[in-house]
Amino acid sequence: MIRIAAMADVHFGTDAVGTLRPHLVRLAEQADLLLIAGDLTRVGDPAEATILVDELRDVRVPIVAVLGNHDYHTDRPAAVTNVLAGAGITVLEGNSISFDINGIRVGVAGVKGFGGGFPGATASDFGEPEMRAFVGHTKERAAHLESALRSLECDRRIALLHYAPVPETLQGEPVGIYPFLGSYLLAEAIDRVGADLVLHGHAHHGSEQGVTEGGVPVRNVAQPVLRRAYALFCFDGTDNRVPVELPSPPELAGWRYNAH
Ligand SMILES: [Fe+2]
Ligand SMILES: [Fe+2]
Repeated sequence: MIRIAAMADVHFGTDAVGTLRPHLVRLAEQADLLLIAGDLTRVGDPAEATILVDELRDVRVPIVAVLGNHDYHTDRPAAVTNVLAGAGITVLEGNSISFDINGIRVGVAGVKGFGGGFPGATASDFGEPEMRAFVGHTKERAAHLESALRSLECDRRIALLHYAPVPETLQGEPVGIYPFLGSYLLAEAIDRVGADLVLHGHAHHGSEQGVTEGGVPVRNVAQPVLRRAYALFCFDGTDNRVPVELPSPPELAGWRYNAH
C-alpha cells in the first residue's frame, strides 16, 4: 500500500511562519510521500521558499514538488528551486522520480504546465509572436510531461502539475478565465501514455474531482479548494488501479490560508 499526501497553493510569504507546521504534525504517520503541486511561494522570492522549507522540516517523508506561476513571478525560479533542493525536496520540471514503497514502485512525473484552454475555447499558435509563444509554452510543457511519464517504469504513475488538464476541476471559477487555468493538451499527453492519478492546483475556486477522457482520475489539491492542509490518496497494490481517497485531517481551528 502506498499513501500519498498532496497539497498545492500554500503561497508562502515571509509573514507565513507557523501557519502550516501545526497542520502537518500527523502527516508522516498518515502518508509515505508528500506531493506539492505548485505555488509554494507568494511571489517567487527565495526568502519565502526558505521559510517554507523550515515549516516542512519535520515532515519526515520524501517531498516532491513542481513550481507554479507564483514561483516565477520575480524571475528567480532557479533560486527557489535551489532552496527547496537544498532542503532535500525534489523539484520536477519535465522529469520524473520513482520510489519503492512497501513493495510497490510509484513514479511521479512533474511539470508546471500552462494555460490555453479546453475544447470549444482554446488559444491557437497563430498570429503575433506573443500568442505563438503562449501556446508554444503549453505545447512544450505537455511534450515534456509526456516524455517524463514515458520514462517511468513503475507499478503506479502520478502526473504532478500546477495547471489543470481538464475543465471539471475548474468548476467554480469564471468560465472566461479557464484558458488561464489549464490546457487540454496536458490531458492529451497524459492519456497518450497512461497514468493512475493526476494532481494539480492553481484553480483556487475550482472543484476537487475530475477525470481525463482516458479515465485517469484528476484531483485539484489547491488548499483553498481542499479547505484543509492536504488530501490523502492510497494505492492498495491490488489490480484495482483506482486510487482510494483516505479521510484527511479536518480543517483545524486557527487555519489561515495564505491568500495572495
Ligand atoms: Fe495559487
Ligand atoms: Fe497558480
